[in-house]
Amino acid sequence: MNVSCANFNRTGDVMIIPVFKGVDKAPNNTTVGLGRGASIAVKAAATSEEISGKVGKSLSVWTKNCTVIFVGVGKKEKLTHKIARDTGAKILAGLSKNLGSEIVVRFTSGWSPENMTAFAEGMMLRDYVFDKYQKNEDEQKHNGWKLECQAHERHLDYLTNSLKSASLVVTGVHLARDLANEPANRLYPEEFGRRALDWAEDKDNVEVEVWDYARLKKEGMEGVIAVGKGSIRKPCMVFFRLNPDQQKDQQVPCIVGKGITFDTGGISIKPTQGMWDMKYDMHGSATVFGLFQALWATGYEGRVNGITCMAENMPSAEAYRPGDVIDTYSGKTIEIFSTDAEGRNVLSDGLWKSAELNPSYIIDLATLTGACVVALGQEASGLWSNDDRLREKIHQAGNSVDELAWPMPLLPAFEKEMTSSKFADVRNGGKGRYGGANTAAAFLKQFIQDREDENGGKSAIPWAHLDIAGTAWNVDTNACVAHGGTGVHVRTLHHLITQG
Ligand code: BES
Ligand code: MN
Ligand code: ZN
Repeated sequence: MNVSCANFNRTGDVMIIPVFKGVDKAPNNTTVGLGRGASIAVKAAATSEEISGKVGKSLSVWTKNCTVIFVGVGKKEKLTHKIARDTGAKILAGLSKNLGSEIVVRFTSGWSPENMTAFAEGMMLRDYVFDKYQKNEDEQKHNGWKLECQAHERHLDYLTNSLKSASLVVTGVHLARDLANEPANRLYPEEFGRRALDWAEDKDNVEVEVWDYARLKKEGMEGVIAVGKGSIRKPCMVFFRLNPDQQKDQQVPCIVGKGITFDTGGISIKPTQGMWDMKYDMHGSATVFGLFQALWATGYEGRVNGITCMAENMPSAEAYRPGDVIDTYSGKTIEIFSTDAEGRNVLSDGLWKSAELNPSYIIDLATLTGACVVALGQEASGLWSNDDRLREKIHQAGNSVDELAWPMPLLPAFEKEMTSSKFADVRNGGKGRYGGANTAAAFLKQFIQDREDENGGKSAIPWAHLDIAGTAWNVDTNACVAHGGTGVHVRTLHHLITQG
């Protein structure tokens, strides 16, 4: 989507006019650019009972040169970024491409530039399809929408920048969705690595490095290897580095992603229904990749590290089994209770490795547990942290962009449970099903290293874990996505890193 802003002038092929509840006449500038007859019809419509201003309620008025669509956004005092963004997304979803390709949105009085940006952002986010494997051409398609946001002169400088920035972040969200939507026969661990290398190739200030199977073996990354060795598509680890030459002696964020390109469950195989969507079990890694795109595109100048732990979890003669005790990069051993609790195994190596990069904090993202979906539904990701400040910052960043991250408990009792194996240091499953998302987080915490602090003592590196099993895929209530991968937390982490 091509996005720009201007004063009230042209009308475009489709003109969208958001209206507030309780305003019973046509907002100023509604009819600028319309012919006389059209103006009369549109003005009449604007005052009709059909336009209530109720959130999401719309009315279209056909005129000779342009279709005018009024859409309600509720009471002016109650307008939030979320209402604006979701309304923009829903209106875009309902537009027929037969109307033409030029959309004008007229933000009349009462609109702050932030809310205008959110409305346009919703349209941009929702303007997404994944149809690369659908060969029959759709005749009514045009090559993309052109969006012009119209507002009072005094807002245009701000809007120019904010729309630009939002549209660049959206490229990261869409990239994350693309990766999540790719089927597992086409996007397997090494293909993910190849795409990351491709992405980095023409960019001066990014570096991507892929550790292949041989390298993982050499490094002793048995956590990733155990999960991935049952597949002919071998595992790998991908390192993303943005601005590697900046802030060399400073601590910078490290973001780690679970990247299971398909999760059959392995020998602890999943039932049919549970396996259906498991190509998105790499959405944590997709978010990391999308985040780097968003940071790069918006010209973020700080240094950031990313690690994605890629493997395909398959049953085979070479697969790992329940009862196996595996070594990990950390030196700690893991007793496997279920080969389906594979995400935590691959993350154990990624998290231990991340400490070597002298991070200011570590955040991991993972479609880790069904239990998290049971606990929180699809409205919020689970958020665990060993650091109150970091937890609060991520919670706030999520709220600012309306991608909720809900604080969950990291209790000593859960850690005790996960370190109670009779045969190894850590067990990869809890003793029962209760608190499955919490025990998974407690497992991950075993792989966060301590380091020396300013007082000469030792303390754990600030770390947070986001379980995105519920928020990353087919979220019916997410107005900004039709179906499939959501690209969740690209915007949260972009906000956290750039504004935090
Ligand atoms: N990838 C799944 C978790 C998942 C489930 C993500 C549903 C999205 C939707 C994960 O690898 C898994 O299988 N977790 C098990 C853990 C259990 C074996 C301890 C689960 O949640 O059942
Ligand atoms: Mn699994
Ligand atoms: Zn999984």
